[in-house]
Amino acid sequence: MFPITQTLTLGREIQYAEPSETASGDPFEWQVAFHYSEALFKGFSGPIGSGKSRALCYEALALGYGNPGCLGLIGAPTYPMLRDSTLLAFRQMLDENDVPYRFHKSEYSLLLLESGSQILFRALDNFERIRGPNLAFFGVDELTYCRPESWLRLEGRLRDRKAKRLCGFASWTPKGFDWVYDRFIGPDKKPGYEAFLAEQNPALPADYYKRLGASYSERFYKQEALGEYLNVFSGQAYYAFDRKAQMGNVIYKPEHPLFWALDFNVNPLCSVYGQVINGLVRVLDELVLPNSNTLAACEEFLARTAKLAGPLQVYVYGDPSGEGRRTAASRTDWQIVREFFRRYPDRFSAQFRVPSAAGPVKDRVNCVNAQLLNYAGKRRLFLNTTCGELAKDFEQIVWKADPSGRALVELDKSDLMRSGNERSKSYKYRRRATPSTPARRVRQRLPCLHLLLRSRSRPDPNTRLAKLPRTLQH
Ligand SMILES: Nc1ncnc2c1ncn2[C@@H]1O[C@H](COP(=O)(O)OP(=O)(O)OP(=O)(O)O)[C@@H](O)[C@H]1O
Ligand SMILES: [Mg+2]
Repeated sequence: MFPITQTLTLGREIQYAEPSETASGDPFEWQVAFHYSEALFKGFSGPIGSGKSRALCYEALALGYGNPGCLGLIGAPTYPMLRDSTLLAFRQMLDENDVPYRFHKSEYSLLLLESGSQILFRALDNFERIRGPNLAFFGVDELTYCRPESWLRLEGRLRDRKAKRLCGFASWTPKGFDWVYDRFIGPDKKPGYEAFLAEQNPALPADYYKRLGASYSERFYKQEALGEYLNVFSGQAYYAFDRKAQMGNVIYKPEHPLFWALDFNVNPLCSVYGQVINGLVRVLDELVLPNSNTLAACEEFLARTAKLAGPLQVYVYGDPSGEGRRTAASRTDWQIVREFFRRYPDRFSAQFRVPSAAGPVKDRVNCVNAQLLNYAGKRRLFLNTTCGELAKDFEQIVWKADPSGRALVELDKSDLMRSGNERSKSYKYRRRATPSTPARRVRQRLPCLHLLLRSRSRPDPNTRLAKLPRTLQH
C-alpha cells in the first residue's frame, strides 16, 4: 500500500492506477510529493493527462478516511465536468478497489461506509451557493477554469472542529499567470500554499503527446502538453504568422474544390477564398468591401472567380450569426448567399458548412496558430500576395490586457476600423487608433478561417480543446 503521510493512512490496500507496460501503477514521483505535502492548501499543476484528477481523487479518499465522520467536498468548474469527469474518476477509483460507499444522487453526495465521512460533489460555477457546511477538506479539479471567488468561499468553510487534518487542495492545467499561479506558485504566493508540478504521463500511449504536437500551436503545446506557465494570451494573437515564409504566389489548382469563408459582422465585409490541398490551406484571394452588403460580396465572388474554369465546387464556411442578422432587404445573410448560389447552378456547386456556434475565442485563435505553425515546426497555411489585409490582421491583432497589463482571454477590439472615407484614407491610421477612437466597427476579420480549420480537423476526444469548450458552455 502507498502510505499517504505518517499519521494518515487509508487502512486498506489501494491500487493507485492500472499498471501498464510503461508504468507500475504506483503514483508518479510528482503525485507522491503532492500526497506527502502537509500544507494546509496544496495544488497539483501539470500537463494534460498527467494524472491530476487521479491525484485529486486519491487525496480526497485519503482525507475521507483520515477524517472519520467528517464532511468533505469535491468541486469542478461546471456540473458536466463534475459529472462526466471528476465524479466518474472518483467512483472508478472506489470501484476498482472495492471501497464500500453509497452515492446519493439527489444530494450529489457520497458516503464512505467504512469511515462514515461524507463527500459532497459540487459544480463551482455558481459560487454563491457554496454556503453552510463546515468542511474538513475540499478538493477542486481544473481550478484554473474556476473563478477565484469559489476558492475563497471554500476556504471560508474549512473549519470542521472534529477534523484530524484540514486541507484544501486542487489540480489544474496552467492557464498563464492567472490567480491560481499568483496564489500557489508566483513570487507573492500565499503563506500555507504549496504546489507541485507534474510531467507528461508515461502510462499514456507512446504517441499521445507527439500527436498533440502536430495539432497544437507551439505556445499552446507548451502550456497544455508540457504544463508550462506562459503568457499565451498576451501580445500578438497570431504570433505564429511569418509573412516571409507564408506569403507568396499561391496558384489555383483546378482539380481541387474551392472554399469561401465569410464573416458578416465586420465592416468592411470580408471574405477569403482558397483551397485546401493535402492539409495545406492555400488562400487565393481576399474580398474586402467597405460599407457593403452580402449580395455585393456574392457578386464580387462571382466576378473574381470568373477566370476559373467551371463548374466550381465551393465549400462555404462562415459566421453562425449570419443566420440571425437581417439586412436591409430583410433576409438573413446566409439566405442571400444560398440564393446567390442557386442562381448559378451551372457555375457553382455549393455546400454550406456553418456551425451552430463560433466557439471560445482562445480556441479559435489557437487552431489558426496551429495551422500557421504547429509544435512540430510545420507551416500549413499560405496566402497569396493579394491577401494583404489578411496578412495585416495576422500581424496586428493583439490580446486585450486589463489596466495593469494582465492578459485577458479576449482580442483587443480597441483598434477599430474607421468607417467611410476616413477608413479608406489609409491603413496607417489603424496602428494609431486608441481605445477612445470614435470608431464604429470592430476591425477583427480573419474571416472565419478558424471555422474552416475546426470543421476539417477531427478532434481527439482526449484533448482539452475538444473537451473543455463543450463542458464549459453549460
Ligand atoms: N500513477 C499512475 N500510473 C499509471 N497511470 C496513471 C497514474 N496516474 C494516472 N494514471 C492514468 O492516466 C490517465 C490520465 O489520468 P488523469 O485523468 O488523472 O489525468 P489528468 O491530468 O486529470 O487528465 P486531464 O488533463 O485530461 O484532465 C488515466 O487513465 C489514469 O488512470
Ligand atoms: Mg483531469
